[in-house]
Amino acid sequence: MRFYNAHFAQTTRTVSPTPTLDPIALVHADMQAVDRVIDERLSSEVPLVGQVARYIISSGGKRLRPVLLLLASGAIESNHPHRHTLAAVVEFIHTATLLHDDVVDESTLRRGRSTANEMFGNAASVLVGDFLYSRAFQMMVDVNSMRVMQILADATNVIAEGEVLQLMHMRDAELSEADYLRVIRSKTAKLFEASSRLAAVLAQAPAPIEEALSTYGQALGTAFQIIDDVLDYEGNADELGKNLGDDLREGKATLPIICTLQTANDSQRARLKQAITAGEIDSLAELIAIIQNSGGLAQAREIAGQEAQRALDAIADLADNAYTQAMRALATSLLTRRS
Ligand code: IPE
Ligand code: IPE
Ligand code: MG
Ligand code: MG
Repeated sequence: MRFYNAHFAQTTRTVSPTPTLDPIALVHADMQAVDRVIDERLSSEVPLVGQVARYIISSGGKRLRPVLLLLASGAIESNHPHRHTLAAVVEFIHTATLLHDDVVDESTLRRGRSTANEMFGNAASVLVGDFLYSRAFQMMVDVNSMRVMQILADATNVIAEGEVLQLMHMRDAELSEADYLRVIRSKTAKLFEASSRLAAVLAQAPAPIEEALSTYGQALGTAFQIIDDVLDYEGNADELGKNLGDDLREGKATLPIICTLQTANDSQRARLKQAITAGEIDSLAELIAIIQNSGGLAQAREIAGQEAQRALDAIADLADNAYTQAMRALATSLLTRRS
């Protein structure tokens, strides 16, 4: 129980009113250690493996999932020696999903550069994605914990299910908000959830702390994907490093579309539905204008805000320290992110 008392605040505690800490700066030294692990574990005797893997990994992703694992570790005052390995593992799993996702989505731009499929072809991307998944599993074996294995095996499996579920809903203009949420909780939020849960599992934290951190990660990941889907309509391709309008071009109904279909007039609704089901994107700019002017983007942002609030609520009882403040800052700032 000492752990519980040490890491859960007393109900009378005072919480800093405005989170001001830069989450990334706080874990900078830890992230350098993670980068060293990543660099060491990318080695392969097959040159193309290293070439493709280093191409995407060194192209400057936000490293959000490892940051989350490290912030969550700091929040519960854990400096478990395996945290850097597991932070690298979640980044490898994330990178593998991106390699596969860009093939599936036929994307040409990622992190401001040509995608790996564009540079090296679909086959190399899929196979190096497999290399990264399996390397991640080799690394997690080193941690020698069945629970760690279970969490990461489940997360990897659920991500794959989420991507397949989304595939099944392609060109589906009737997709409900609940079905959309199911997809994004699987394809995106699950790895955020696993990242923050792993911090608690490594530290052998009590179940309520593990649940608090996991819920935070799940809600944060959900908000993150909703904002990503909004930015596909109103972001800036240079800042995002990805092409805009890809979702509509692919016939993928995301939350901005689902919200727009609820508020648009009959002719706008018919045009949007037609665009999704038949892939008629000759007037993409016009369709994007309908979505932008309908209030659908604001509505989607509102739902992302509710998820961010759920993330904040989940960690409200954790002790107030620099790391929990940074976790609060992260949940708030992702709502206004531009990249
Ligand atoms: C991209 O994730 C895929 C989504 C879940 C939207 P990130 O936006 O975290 O990708 P990088 O790693 O920073 O490029
Ligand atoms: C990202 O999904 C891939 C996973 C979460 C597995 P999206 O296809 O929605 O994201 P971007 O736009 O390519 O980054
Ligand atoms: Mg994609
Ligand atoms: Mg996709």
